[in-house]
Amino acid sequence: MDKNTQNDYLLKAIGAFNRRFMVISPEYKILASSSKLNGIIDSEIIGQHCYKVLYDRSLPCINCSIKEAKNKRRPALTPKHGNSLDLDEMPCYFAYPIFSGDDIEAFVSMDFDLPTRGGLEEKLNRSNAFLRNLIFSSVDCVIAADKKGKILIFNGPASKVFGYTEDEALNSLNVRNIYPGKQAVEVMRNLRSEEYGGKGKLKLYQTHVKTKNGEIIPIKLNASIIYEKYREVATIGFFHDLREQLRMKDELEKTQLQLLQAEKMSSLGKLAAGVAHQLNNPLGGITLFAKLIQEEYDLEEGAKQDLDRILKDAQRCRDTVKELLEFTRQTRHLMRPHDANEAVSRALFLLENQALFQNIDIVKDLDALLPPVQADIQQLNHLFMNIILNAAQAMEGKGKLTVKSSLLPDPDRICIEISDTGVGIPEEILPQIFEQFFTTKEEGKGTGLGLSLAYSIVKNHGGNITAKSTPGQGATFFIELPVADKNNQGEDSGDNT
Ligand SMILES: Nc1ncnc2c1ncn2[C@@H]1O[C@H](COP(=O)(O)OP(=O)(O)OP(=O)(O)O)[C@@H](O)[C@H]1O
Ligand SMILES: [Mg+2]
Repeated sequence: MDKNTQNDYLLKAIGAFNRRFMVISPEYKILASSSKLNGIIDSEIIGQHCYKVLYDRSLPCINCSIKEAKNKRRPALTPKHGNSLDLDEMPCYFAYPIFSGDDIEAFVSMDFDLPTRGGLEEKLNRSNAFLRNLIFSSVDCVIAADKKGKILIFNGPASKVFGYTEDEALNSLNVRNIYPGKQAVEVMRNLRSEEYGGKGKLKLYQTHVKTKNGEIIPIKLNASIIYEKYREVATIGFFHDLREQLRMKDELEKTQLQLLQAEKMSSLGKLAAGVAHQLNNPLGGITLFAKLIQEEYDLEEGAKQDLDRILKDAQRCRDTVKELLEFTRQTRHLMRPHDANEAVSRALFLLENQALFQNIDIVKDLDALLPPVQADIQQLNHLFMNIILNAAQAMEGKGKLTVKSSLLPDPDRICIEISDTGVGIPEEILPQIFEQFFTTKEEGKGTGLGLSLAYSIVKNHGGNITAKSTPGQGATFFIELPVADKNNQGEDSGDNT
């Protein structure tokens, strides 16, 4: 490349430089200027004094960088006036002397924006505030500590979960003390190992932490060691409180179990209903033909009595089948007026022939004038069945079961009392018996769902259920249900379960 082309390029480069760029003589005369000066045409300013052209002054500026460069014989810089509010950058004038031997032949003058210290600090502060904001708006607890365990960062969620204020944590808490027992050592060991997401990292690590008041909380931890030139300097951990998640998981498991139980009951019900239905026809045949024999043949007295017995037993079978069908009827939930005496009698009727009830005296004291209750009959059946079964189990098949019904005034409610003479309920567990999965029965014998189901059925019907007991002498369950509104004939809850 020849010299001229190079010079051309240099001139173009100066032209492309979008700033004031001039060559000025030691007498402040403009010798050359980049063509990028706003609106000023080169030819008009060459040979003129810079202070005149640029500031319309008759003398050199007081704060002139060329003057300083001239005095000190080295590059000089002076800040531009007027822009002091700009914290990020400070506009400055630069003057570079161009030497010819020992003499200064001219100066290059140009303007530039220098980043200011104030601006840098401000930027740093702003970015620190942003980072702090970021850490403090995290949903999870963020805790950072130095190598000795001194806490450096302790955000709001950490205060909430651990119970320490930020001040307390920063001044008097060691990170080792947020873990129970030797857990802190374990966490550090795993953090340094390769096993949980690589060396210096812990990913989705499940462990426990200890709060200020000693509560142990399950958490999920993501943590890292912070290195400076391969040296461990600090650790940072993001702790996610797992209590709510575990509670929901537990609830889900319980609901699944309950569903399973309900499904089991429902398929048993269907099976029973199917069997009952199939028995209906042969039972009809037995009754019909027994009656025919009775009517068409002149039988001797003994045979007549036997046929009577057959008819009675067949009738009893039909009654059982009818009640069973009623009990297992798969209907949509339908709230209708129902006789609670009938429902509790049905449950007794179906149970009294079971082996468990063979040595149990059943005493019925039912108010014949009991008004109907607004209820879903299938749920009433399940309700009484559960309470009566519990009573029989508590008596281990021997004792007295009393079922009493009565009308309670104001507001109109009926009360069904079911008492037994069984082991009774110890006072300390009485408040828990209606809880889901509470059972004192050995595994396989009870799931602890009977009374919780009874409780939700009674509550769904706007009623109340309570229990009283004298341990060793038995227990009594009181079921109160609102009397049906005479004008309300039935309403479909729309629920298919
Ligand atoms: N009549 C009663 N006498 C004494 N204890 C009772 C009586 N009824 C209930 N309990 C106590 O209440 C607990 C809970 O009863 P619940 O019917 O909910 O469950 P379960 O009978 O143990 O099991 P499941 O009914 O699911 O087979 C029983 O385990 C028992 O300790
Ligand atoms: Mg039970």
